[in-house]
Amino acid sequence: MRNGKLGFGILGCGVIAPTHVKAIHACAEAELVAVCDIDEPKGRAFAAANGNVSFHANAGDLVKDPHVDVVCICTPSGLHADGAIAAAAAGKHVFCEKPLDIARDRMSRMIDAVDKAGVKMGCVFQSRTAPDSARVRQAVTDGALGKMTLADAFLKDYRSRAYYRSAGWRGTWALDGGGALMNQGVHGVDLLLWLLNDDVDRVFARTDHKVRDIEVEDTSVACLQFAGGAFGTIIGTTSCNPGEVRRIELHGDIGTITVRGSTITRWALADAPDARAKDLDLAQKRIEDGTTGDNKAITSQGHEFLVADLVAAIQQNREPFITGRSARKAVDLILGIYESARTGTDVALPRS
Ligand SMILES: NC(=O)c1ccc[n+]([C@@H]2O[C@H](COP(=O)([O-])OP(=O)(O)OC[C@H]3O[C@@H](n4cnc5c(N)ncnc54)[C@H](O)[C@@H]3O)[C@@H](O)[C@H]2O)c1
Repeated sequence: MRNGKLGFGILGCGVIAPTHVKAIHACAEAELVAVCDIDEPKGRAFAAANGNVSFHANAGDLVKDPHVDVVCICTPSGLHADGAIAAAAAGKHVFCEKPLDIARDRMSRMIDAVDKAGVKMGCVFQSRTAPDSARVRQAVTDGALGKMTLADAFLKDYRSRAYYRSAGWRGTWALDGGGALMNQGVHGVDLLLWLLNDDVDRVFARTDHKVRDIEVEDTSVACLQFAGGAFGTIIGTTSCNPGEVRRIELHGDIGTITVRGSTITRWALADAPDARAKDLDLAQKRIEDGTTGDNKAITSQGHEFLVADLVAAIQQNREPFITGRSARKAVDLILGIYESARTGTDVALPRS
């Protein structure tokens, strides 16, 4: 902490790192003080381009830097636990990119490490921060749609062959942990679970790599049984051309809410239990295409919200908006989907 500001250090200076820099700059009580990358020329160039902050060639040195209070985990997904555990062990707070990690035992160990060290870990799922997301979750939780019947996520992105070649870890089991679902679709899987405010009990799924030459899936379909009784489906792909804006549809016996991108596009409610639901007037809003077709087309608003929230959580000694336990649910479900597709069986999800 210097001049009343928490010092942030970024671990991994790739595609998502500039979004973290913007979010840190947008927070009056945060400052970027250091970066780290195993690719030394890349990391040094990133440090130079961002205020000549300190550069460290390995995570051990970054977490030991006395000016670093919070470590942003921006490494490939299958390395998130290593960075988070090292940071927590050094007494540093953690700001972790999605997905939390790609394996259950690794996620458990990082959550335990943070708890044991008494530090905070804020997790990134920026779609939750959109104002419409909070409205939908509140309405569903309050029972506005009645008895929930269906909760569906249509996650149809486009990623080119060049995208999968753009970094060695992309599209690999070892470091991406999966494909269309674990990397891109995880945002929509998390949002579906969060909006419905429910957990999945069982899943049956099919996955395949239909057109991309990758070991993980580029296309998947899954049937869900929620603990609260609703059914649901998740369709996830990176091989739709040109891709569709993400759509989530929530249905109860007296109403429907549809969210496209981060915007509510339908809100229909019945006046009486057996009446037909009528559409409410929604002010026409622009629907953001987001990262449907381009992994670099990301805005920093969500990250700004989450950095400011983590800083407040540290100052007020409260839980961050997205905790590790909450962030792991999407990964636990995706791992269940993969297991079902691999074994051809209906899979019960663990309660974490
Ligand atoms: N929230 C979002 O919308 C969003 C968008 C893009 C990426 N991400 C997530 O961010 C993470 C990084 O993705 P990316 O697209 O920036 O990847 P990237 O390949 O562009 O960058 C990763 C960087 O980490 C560095 N690195 C690898 N191992 C390291 C280690 N042990 N120590 C230090 N540095 C190391 C690499 O050299 C590289 O510069 C992934 O988990 C991804 O899922 C999130």
